[in-house]
Amino acid sequence: MMQHTSVRNFTDEKIPVDILKTIIEAGRAASTWKNFQSYSIINISNEVTKQKIYDLQPQKSIKGASNFLVFVGDLNRAEKAVKLHTDVFYPEGIENLLISSVDASLVAQNTLLAAESLGYGGVIVGLIRDQATELSALLNLPDYTYPLFGLALGVPARQNDVKPRLPYEAVVFDETYKVQETKVIQDYDQMQAEFSGERRLGTDWSERIVAQFGTPSQTATLENLQAKGLMK
Ligand SMILES: Cc1cc2nc3c(=O)[nH]c(=O)nc-3n(C[C@H](O)[C@H](O)[C@H](O)COP(=O)(O)O)c2cc1C
Repeated sequence: MMQHTSVRNFTDEKIPVDILKTIIEAGRAASTWKNFQSYSIINISNEVTKQKIYDLQPQKSIKGASNFLVFVGDLNRAEKAVKLHTDVFYPEGIENLLISSVDASLVAQNTLLAAESLGYGGVIVGLIRDQATELSALLNLPDYTYPLFGLALGVPARQNDVKPRLPYEAVVFDETYKVQETKVIQDYDQMQAEFSGERRLGTDWSERIVAQFGTPSQTATLENLQAKGLMK
C-alpha cells in the first residue's frame, strides 16, 4: 500500500478477463453503508467507447488502459427496493449523495489496491465529471445514477516514484483538531517542487488548489444530478 503511485501510461497488454473479475470482486468486498451497495461499475474494454470517452475528456490513461472502469453512484436499485414497499421515494440531497459516493469510492480504492497487488497499475480519473451529462448518455445511465470517476487499469509502462504526502503531524491529530500554520503549506510546496524536479507542472501545489477552490466550481455535476433526480 505504501508503494502506491498513480499509473497513467500503460503497455498494450490486456488484463485477462478472469483476473479483472477477481480484482473487482476484491474491490467489492469493501465496507458499504448499511450493506446498500449504492454503486455500479461500467467496465469499458471496447476501444471505440474508450475513444469516445477520451474525446470528451482527453486524458491518455483513458485510451491507454486495458480497462476503464466508470464508478457510478447508484440509487436506481434503491428505487426498486423502496417501491416494493411504498410509493414515495426521496433520493435527493447531500446525505444520499455522500452514501453513494463513499460506497463507490471504497470499492474503487480496494479495486486499485487489488490490481496493484497483482502487478497492475492505474489511476482514478475524476475529471470525467466535467462531462457528466454526455458520459451518462454514452453509458445509458438511468435516473438516480451519476458518474463519480473512472479508474484506468492496465500493465504499467514504467514505475513512478512514490509521491510524498503531507507530514503525518499536519494531518493526524491527537484527541482534537489542530489548525495548521501557513508554513506547513509552504513547506509542502517546496517538498512537492523537489519531488517533481524536471517534471514540474510550472505551478506550486498550493496554486493548483487555487485552480480548484479559488474559483467557482464547475456546474456540470450539479446539472447532471438535477437531471437524474438526485438534487433539487
Ligand atoms: C477522486 C480522484 C480523482 C482524480 N482524478 C484524476 C484525474 O482526472 N486525472 C489524473 O491524472 N489523476 C487523477 N487523480 C489522481 C491524483 O492526481 C493522484 O492520486 C494524486 O496526485 C496523488 O498521486 P499518487 O496517486 O501517484 O500518489 C485523481 C485522484 C482521486 C482520488
